[in-house]
Amino acid sequence: MTTLERADAAERAMIEELDRIVVKSVIYTSGERDPRVPVPRPPDQGKFYMMGHDPRLPRMPATPTLFDFFRYRFGPSNHVMQSARLAQKSGANEKVVLACLLHDISVAGFIRGDHGYWGAQLVEPYVDEEVSWAIRYHQALRFFPDESVGYRYPESYVKLFGPDYKPEPYIERDYRYAREHTWYMTSRLITVNDLYAFDPNVQVQLEEFTDIVGRNFKQPKEGLGFDASPSAHMWRTMMWPTKYL
Ligand SMILES: [Fe+2]
Ligand SMILES: [Fe+2]
Repeated sequence: MTTLERADAAERAMIEELDRIVVKSVIYTSGERDPRVPVPRPPDQGKFYMMGHDPRLPRMPATPTLFDFFRYRFGPSNHVMQSARLAQKSGANEKVVLACLLHDISVAGFIRGDHGYWGAQLVEPYVDEEVSWAIRYHQALRFFPDESVGYRYPESYVKLFGPDYKPEPYIERDYRYAREHTWYMTSRLITVNDLYAFDPNVQVQLEEFTDIVGRNFKQPKEGLGFDASPSAHMWRTMMWPTKYL
């Protein structure tokens, strides 16, 4: 068996132990498999399909908060917390600090590709327009230097994407748009504080941002995912990522 086959077999064994059948969304597997080919279905064996909480994940509270998503659904959040702390230390205003704290939550818990756009959409109903705007455009601004604030093209991008990588035309277009916008500097400050190399001995706790989040993030009383906001379904998908329909 190849490594991939072994991983598939292990996953099948684990899924067989569940009392529900899990079918992954196309977006989780597209590329690893050809999305046009029908998915072979195991016999149902009298089991029902997963229609809610996946027992392999920690259960979320009935009315989940932003911090609950950080705790139960996001990958390690050191990067965004360190960026937010750095922004705070440099004297940035609360909007910038919040934008730094949230700028990569899509990478941490949802979808990587176009993460600035997805991340902005996730938080848009709950934050000042300037905050979600900054999160959306940090994605494009990351690729373009701004000497006036000492921001250079990231060394890490040269390593990750190769020296010849050139962003797609839509990224360049959005950069040009953002460059001329009144809120440009808010978004630019995300990139300035967007650190990958940081003192590994410094541990930042989420609680450090309780007050800033309390003042600047409109937590819905029904819980994220259960309010009727335009992005509520996206939070539900993070809560129940394997729901069949
Ligand atoms: Fe980012
Ligand atoms: Fe980042």
